[in-house]
Amino acid sequence: MAKGRTFDLVIAANRLPVDRVVDSDGTERWRRSPGGLVTAMDSVMRGREGAWVGWAGDPGEAPTPFDEGGMWLHPVEISQEEVEQYYEGFSNDTLWPIYHDVIVPARFHRPWWVAYERVNQRFAEAIAEVAAEGALVWVHDYQLQLVPQLVRELRPDVRIGWFNHIPFPPVELFAQLPWRSRLLTGLLGADYLGFQRTADAQNFIRSCRRHLDATTKGDTVTLPAADGRPGRTVRASAVPISIDFRSLDELARSPAVKARAQEIRASLGNPETLFLGVDRLDYTKGIRHRLKAYEELLAEGTLSTPDVTFVQVATPSRERVDAYKRLRTEVETTVGHINGSYSTIGAQAVHYLHQSYPREEMAALFQAADVMLVTPLRDGMNLVAKEYVTCRNDLGGALVLSEFTGAWHELHQAFVCNPHDIEGLKQTMLRAMSASPKEKQRLMRALRRRVSDHDVLVWADRFLENLRAAPDRPPRRTGKERS
Ligand code: ADP
Ligand code: F6P
Repeated sequence: MAKGRTFDLVIAANRLPVDRVVDSDGTERWRRSPGGLVTAMDSVMRGREGAWVGWAGDPGEAPTPFDEGGMWLHPVEISQEEVEQYYEGFSNDTLWPIYHDVIVPARFHRPWWVAYERVNQRFAEAIAEVAAEGALVWVHDYQLQLVPQLVRELRPDVRIGWFNHIPFPPVELFAQLPWRSRLLTGLLGADYLGFQRTADAQNFIRSCRRHLDATTKGDTVTLPAADGRPGRTVRASAVPISIDFRSLDELARSPAVKARAQEIRASLGNPETLFLGVDRLDYTKGIRHRLKAYEELLAEGTLSTPDVTFVQVATPSRERVDAYKRLRTEVETTVGHINGSYSTIGAQAVHYLHQSYPREEMAALFQAADVMLVTPLRDGMNLVAKEYVTCRNDLGGALVLSEFTGAWHELHQAFVCNPHDIEGLKQTMLRAMSASPKEKQRLMRALRRRVSDHDVLVWADRFLENLRAAPDRPPRRTGKERS
């Protein structure tokens, strides 16, 4: 049971919101972690008291727990071998491809699974240490699917929720996993399971029916009593994630961001059309597909520099995993090829930026772009799409959005595309850039309304409400943080 500080709300995610970076001179600093999970949960936890259990982003001994902006960060140690087997291996080379339509083949290695089990156990122990009596424990994402059951075993008094930031695969794909039943039982240790789309929740429920001795009804799964564990019913439903609309909108309205947006356009030679892509450098994001469409439009002469240019921001991600290394080579070769063939002196066809930027710079880029290209082959949500419309308080700009993103299920006024259909994608890009200002305003107004009404705080409240409403209530909570 808990020895140190304990909290009524505990978040657990593979990563802490900040990564520890050690510079070449040995100085240690903390940098915001990449990805949508941190963007969303950072906003949710601002102003709430709670602990965040996660990895500090580098292998080896975990830093001592510390307070960061009112949140208690509790680092979990992950060794070099576990980084390779649990994080790069099982999480990102086995689960990630299976959960994203096997865009690249999944790799199965038994030692990776063993490491996944071991690290999930360590996370569960860390959670049990910081959770107050009857606490709410909110576990995130595919890296921690065994944690709900493991926490339940250690701390039957707490209430456990899990949210999946990525898609949950169809039964036929999930069935490939040799450890499928263990993953499902791990998740069913939760009181409530949240997914991005109803289809994801249904995929999960169907897998439970197929692989476990479970009965399902509507959005619930019931496991019979077994191995000394009581039978329980768990609800699995959709709660689509979002962003902090108000704070990003305010930032985008600031004179400094507006001036920077102008400056960006000017430094690109004030093109008639600026296309923008912003993604982690991940094969799920369809970066190659949008480059191909753009290249063909240039080759045909439908588009040409200096009238158009394309800025692709590609955040470094999972750089030691082979599929990511290959993608980086392909993207960089293609960018080089496009620039070699279609740039002129002073007018580059593609600006490729393999870097992370502060929020202000991202907001300025979004404001500067005429057409935002969000073309994933599969994406749980895609917060970039929501950030783009949030930054367009001028009602300018156009969003091209893949039908294979969770975001598409909410943002129907976007210019929809199927990124596999290159010809169709080209036509959609042209339609988006040439829509009349009046039409763009009408669409952007509707898109902004949707994001504003369903922001990240609404998402968190809905998730926590579902978690609190789950059956099998644990003993009442005993009050505020204990020490
Ligand atoms: P994922 O979680 O798969 O990375 P999302 O689109 O849901 O994808 O979230 C990505 C988040 O990371 C967004 O908040 C986006 O603004 C941010 N981001 C992406 N690229 C960069 C970058 N180069 N610099 C800073 N933030 C970035
Ligand atoms: O939800 C997708 C996700 O894996 C998140 O866990 C995280 O926000 C993001 O992608 C970044 O990935 P990683 O933590 O592997 O760098």
